[in-house]
Amino acid sequence: MTLVSPTLDAPADGLAARMGRIAASPASILRRRARELRAEGRDVIELSAGDLDFPTPDHVVAAAHRAALAQETGYTDTDGTPALKDAVRAAFARQNGLSYGPDEIIVSTGSTQVLFSAFAATLEPGDEVIVPQPCWAPYLNQVRLAGGVPVPVACPPDNGFKLRPADLNRAITDRTRWVVLNNPVNPTGAVYDAADLSALARVLLDFPGIRVLADGLYEHIVFDGQRAPTMAEVEQQLKPRTLTVSGVAKAYGMEGWRIGYAGGPAPLVRAMAKVQSLTTGCPSSISQAAAVAALTGPQTLLAERAAELQRRRDRFAALLDGCAGLACPLPEGTFYLIVSCAGVIGRRTVAGKPIETGRDFAAHLLETAGVAVLAGEDCGLSNHVRVSFGQPMATLEEAARRIARACAELR
Ligand SMILES: Cc1ncc(COP(=O)(O)O)c(C=O)c1O
Repeated sequence: MTLVSPTLDAPADGLAARMGRIAASPASILRRRARELRAEGRDVIELSAGDLDFPTPDHVVAAAHRAALAQETGYTDTDGTPALKDAVRAAFARQNGLSYGPDEIIVSTGSTQVLFSAFAATLEPGDEVIVPQPCWAPYLNQVRLAGGVPVPVACPPDNGFKLRPADLNRAITDRTRWVVLNNPVNPTGAVYDAADLSALARVLLDFPGIRVLADGLYEHIVFDGQRAPTMAEVEQQLKPRTLTVSGVAKAYGMEGWRIGYAGGPAPLVRAMAKVQSLTTGCPSSISQAAAVAALTGPQTLLAERAAELQRRRDRFAALLDGCAGLACPLPEGTFYLIVSCAGVIGRRTVAGKPIETGRDFAAHLLETAGVAVLAGEDCGLSNHVRVSFGQPMATLEEAARRIARACAELR
């Protein structure tokens, strides 16, 4: 498997040199592009971003409304309100059997901020962070922004796109400070089970200076009765050096409320809170009230939503797998299909444009089919595209019809 890097902007006058070494989140760029095209009157189906169509539950919106009416509109503690930190502790205990004290919890403006604060609080220039690839591209750029060096390690398709312990071992140097373990994995939908994590833990136990960044943002979106455990619950010995990250965005239909959280060792959490105090001050008070309602209210919606996503996965993957030149394995979790377009590489569009990369294919789908998808290259994977199934079934069926036509017309 070849590793590919995302496109970077050229350095510009008046900007810090590091701006030439980082890129914005590719999904956020595409989301905006799709919106602009729609504003121009184009009929675009947006399957590139990480938003689900599921609404924020009514009781969560009501809690936010109540908080606003009660004037809970001041700054909160930097690391989150006591009520939300308690709700997060209860959620970790319920979901992962993990026990954290209040000083081991931080609430942030999305898990995006949790991750950045962790890197900013710990990395010295040149420190390395192992990032299994394909990956959510912002990990790489957050590490660079914090002065570190991301070390992508290929997770081959014949290992279900999962990190092999031997590859992890080989990537470790005396500069390694973190290993990122996202489970389930954006963009491949791979799920590490307890045995997978134990095998990786056996490697890490030999390196006491390496921390684990366990990103479980999609932990509730797992299919076929599986579970996506997190490292600290699988290997208790690693808990003192693991940051267990999650958030309400994907689980509760709350992407725009911007609440993420983490549990980890108190000194690390304190340092992250210091970063947070200087960057955002604190997470939104109203959103925190909403997140308390989400985490402490009825949890039946989690399984209901996962079941609906599994139905969409099965139907949409079958439709895309039937398109000329595409191959679409079933993801075990998340709401993304990682579709191989290797079978259309080397063909040309009706206008004569060659399709040489996943990026070319994504551009072809946007131009001719009005379907926005993420190029695999933006997640470190060539000759693939990442397609979301976080939209209603009828939208997915229409997208599949358009994609089938766009594939069929390639020569
Ligand atoms: C793997 C992964 N981690 C973290 C995030 C950040 O999510 P948020 O900041 O909305 O909590 C995302 C967003 O899509 C993601 O895919």
